[in-house]
Amino acid sequence: MEVLRNLADLEDYRHHIGLKKSEMLTLVPTMGSLHAGHLSLVQRAKEPSPEQPEALPAKVMVSIFVNPIQFDQPEDLKRYPRQEEYDIALLSEAGCDAVWIPDVKAMYPKGFATRIEVEGPALLWEGARRPGHFSGVATVVARLFGLITPDRAIFGEKDWQQLQVIKRMVADLSLGIIIEGAPIVREEDGLALSSRNQFLTPTERAQAPILYKTLLQVREKLQNKAPHSVLQEARQTLTEKGFSVDYLEIVQKEEMLVAKAWSEHTRLITAARLGSVRLLDNIGP
Ligand code: PAF
Repeated sequence: MEVLRNLADLEDYRHHIGLKKSEMLTLVPTMGSLHAGHLSLVQRAKEPSPEQPEALPAKVMVSIFVNPIQFDQPEDLKRYPRQEEYDIALLSEAGCDAVWIPDVKAMYPKGFATRIEVEGPALLWEGARRPGHFSGVATVVARLFGLITPDRAIFGEKDWQQLQVIKRMVADLSLGIIIEGAPIVREEDGLALSSRNQFLTPTERAQAPILYKTLLQVREKLQNKAPHSVLQEARQTLTEKGFSVDYLEIVQKEEMLVAKAWSEHTRLITAARLGSVRLLDNIGP
């Protein structure tokens, strides 16, 4: 696996891989601190794209960059886990072709003065609670796309809203990159994998799977009960069990607006805090 650390390395790699028209370079953007969820994205990247099954998934690149401009809390940025050597070993073992690990200067050189403003699916939920977060995500992803020029990029569905924001941006700016979401990977007890789970205390870790269990129960109850009361009841149960619930809602799965009814066009999304950790999760019908 090639480890690329500066712009010259990246340009050189991009120039020399010499892909044919029928071959794809797939990018998996990450902030490092990799776990089985990220590795599932790498596996997915090695398979043909459902959107262009005839193209050969020739090369897989992962980027690792803890993007300062998407953190609304300086403390959160400071404590974001970093484990570069281990990440490189994991990626090499997973059969990744190249990893790009730029520093802040490479991503935001002196004079960098552009930010992508995002609306639509970015406005509510995470967007409303974390000012500037999705603008920071969109800006870094657009910059990665500009530098790496992948044919396709894969993002985890755990950050469902982020995936919708990126799809919208790529469509609106006609970036011509295939964007795919890959299913959430969970611990055996149902907790969605996240780099931040390591900050849960043992007691919180034991409680955390309740969030996913609650989503499953809500989905079940929605078969024959009105959404409003089902959601209200679930929020209350989570609060009684020690979660501080930011939101638990049924939304239109692309537009991210509140949906009145549960259907194949919707997604059940939640964010809830347990101690110092904010857990995000979502499920479809
Ligand atoms: O999901 C993430 O890890 C980040 O938000 C991303 C997409 C790599 C942008 O920094």
